[in-house]
Amino acid sequence: MQHPLKIAVLISGNGSNLQAIIDYQQQHPDVYQIGLVISNKADAFGLQRAEKAGIPTCVINHKDYPDRVSFDRAMQREIDAQEVQLVVLAGFMRILSAEFTTHYLGRMLNIHPSLLPKYPGLNTHQQAIDNGDAEHGLSVHFVTAELDGGPLILQSRVSLLPDDDAVSLQHKVHQQEHQAYPLVVRWFAEGRLQLKNGQAWFNGQPLAEPIQLEEFSGEL
Ligand code: GRF
Repeated sequence: MQHPLKIAVLISGNGSNLQAIIDYQQQHPDVYQIGLVISNKADAFGLQRAEKAGIPTCVINHKDYPDRVSFDRAMQREIDAQEVQLVVLAGFMRILSAEFTTHYLGRMLNIHPSLLPKYPGLNTHQQAIDNGDAEHGLSVHFVTAELDGGPLILQSRVSLLPDDDAVSLQHKVHQQEHQAYPLVVRWFAEGRLQLKNGQAWFNGQPLAEPIQLEEFSGEL
């Protein structure tokens, strides 16, 4: 693994997870370097976060392409031109083609605000509330063609209290996400994390269950 690991981060909006990844990079510049931030939206606030940190940005508007595959190919060209070793989806709100996910299989991560396999897709916080769940959380996983369905790497749980609404719950989950995502990228950079035979491996062992963030609070 080349050090520091060169990564691309794909966003569509606020980019608070991108900010956490930037902050970690600034504290640990030897672990990974963000070579490129791509947004499919020109007004994504995350682009300003990247520019402030001196990170190259690129807007690829999906509306400029006739279909999903041609949009994905345009992103792939930009990413591969930078010789990126890991693609990090951080609030990237487009469904990816099988061609794209296959090209980056084992080299692309996503973070999702639910305890997958519960609640793939949108509105996860409200769904957890509506179902009366006692806990909620986040998942980090390798990306496959199945939406929010790739092999799980890490989860973190938050309590869902009677007075929580979707906003308070999102806030709690976000706080955990900002701890979790840089840590998982770090593990990948250190060669401790791989996708093999459709399963996530950590420290040379297949993961029977996702790692729980709280077990690794000492590494944060
Ligand atoms: C996060 O909750 C992430 O789990 C989901 O999209 C949200 C992005 O938030 N995939 P931000 O743009 O990083 O603030």
